[in-house]
Amino acid sequence: MNERAVFATRFGAIATTVGSAVGLGNIWRFPYEAGVHGGGAFMICYLIFVFLIGVPLLCAEFCMGRGTRSNIFGAYRKLGGGRIARVAGPLGIVASLLILSFYSVVAGWTVEYCISSATGSLDFSNTTAGHGQFVDLTTGWRPMIWTIIFLFINFMILICGVTKGIERASNILMPLLFLLLVAFCINSFFMPGFADGINFLFTPDFSKISSSVLLGAMGQAFFSLSLGLGCMMTYGSYFNDRNRLGRTAATTAILDSMVAILAGVIIFPAVFSFDLSPEAGPTLVFEVLPYIFNQLPGGMIWSTLFFLLLFLASLTSTVSMSEISITYFCEEKHMTRRNATILSSVIALVGGVLCAMSFGPLSDFTIFGMTIFSLFDYLSSNICLPIGGFICSLFVGWWVDKKFLRDQLTDFGKFRFPLYRPLLLCLRWLCPAAIFLIFLNSIGLL
Ligand code: PHE
Repeated sequence: MNERAVFATRFGAIATTVGSAVGLGNIWRFPYEAGVHGGGAFMICYLIFVFLIGVPLLCAEFCMGRGTRSNIFGAYRKLGGGRIARVAGPLGIVASLLILSFYSVVAGWTVEYCISSATGSLDFSNTTAGHGQFVDLTTGWRPMIWTIIFLFINFMILICGVTKGIERASNILMPLLFLLLVAFCINSFFMPGFADGINFLFTPDFSKISSSVLLGAMGQAFFSLSLGLGCMMTYGSYFNDRNRLGRTAATTAILDSMVAILAGVIIFPAVFSFDLSPEAGPTLVFEVLPYIFNQLPGGMIWSTLFFLLLFLASLTSTVSMSEISITYFCEEKHMTRRNATILSSVIALVGGVLCAMSFGPLSDFTIFGMTIFSLFDYLSSNICLPIGGFICSLFVGWWVDKKFLRDQLTDFGKFRFPLYRPLLLCLRWLCPAAIFLIFLNSIGLL
């Protein structure tokens, strides 16, 4: 992606930003996290974090990116935070590489499911099929091979410079994914477990809100909105001057949460209809979906189409997270783009293979009670991204010149931004305090 490129249209800007945000985080991670953390209680915390922390931080990252036309390092530096860039920058790079590693494993599953559906080898004909298929798929060396294949596709896209092509394709295909999700939702309505599933997802049991639910919901909000690692800053740097940043932030958050909720409405009724456990963890969606496809006439076609679109949605997200480390190696370490791409991909490959092995040969190897896969996920989403967001909110709230912020939000006074004061309040107090308190709470100090 060319650093100085600017999105020509508002639709292009929103579609690409949503392309980064919508991915496995919504369709795979949200249902499994909600399942593990008690459904409704998690959902309500998640939505509160998206709108009270996520939207203000999206605005902050967009302002920093568009106002400086730089990546995370340049953005902090140009706004007078050179020292802060040395903390926030590497933190973002580490987070992006950790995410890329485990994300590629799951994206690898989507490739395998897509191909197996198309060739008819994915058999959903009996009640243990979902789990059995998944076990077959993830034991031994197969997941590693699919992870490597996925990372190779990602690498080729980056090295051939066809990211624009992928983005253009996703502008058309993402609405299609959305329609497909709506169709599956309608199908859920007719399942025997519909009421139980909906109840589980939407009825909050406040007694279930614990420190792990709060931390998990906050991590999910950051992960799903691609926040805290400079991704949205980089995208903001491509916005044109007429982009209303506040509106773009709100639209992104609304669309992103809608996709997550749709995924929940598809998965949980099926979980309850087929007597499965909502607490299955990272494998939940892949075990449940085959049951749904099995019910539908022409299941094979639905399944192929769905996994193909999910694969593309993952690709638009991995391209955006790879871009963070590539720009860092290019601009800060003065590497050529080609070498930077090779280096990032090799790091992700090593991480990806380790994560893939967590479902096979390394399934018994745990650190702090977590497999390598879960540890990478936990460290990046629940720790690195919120710290990145904490730094960004304090920096924009207190340090950055308020005229700069106001100019960015109102396009130099061309239109009004009535929520300026509440936004500043969130960035100065609410976001940093919430993140800090949730951290204290989760280490048992509160
Ligand atoms: N938001 C993406 C998703 O939901 C994942 C992502 C995280 C992308 C961080 C870029 C940066 O799938």
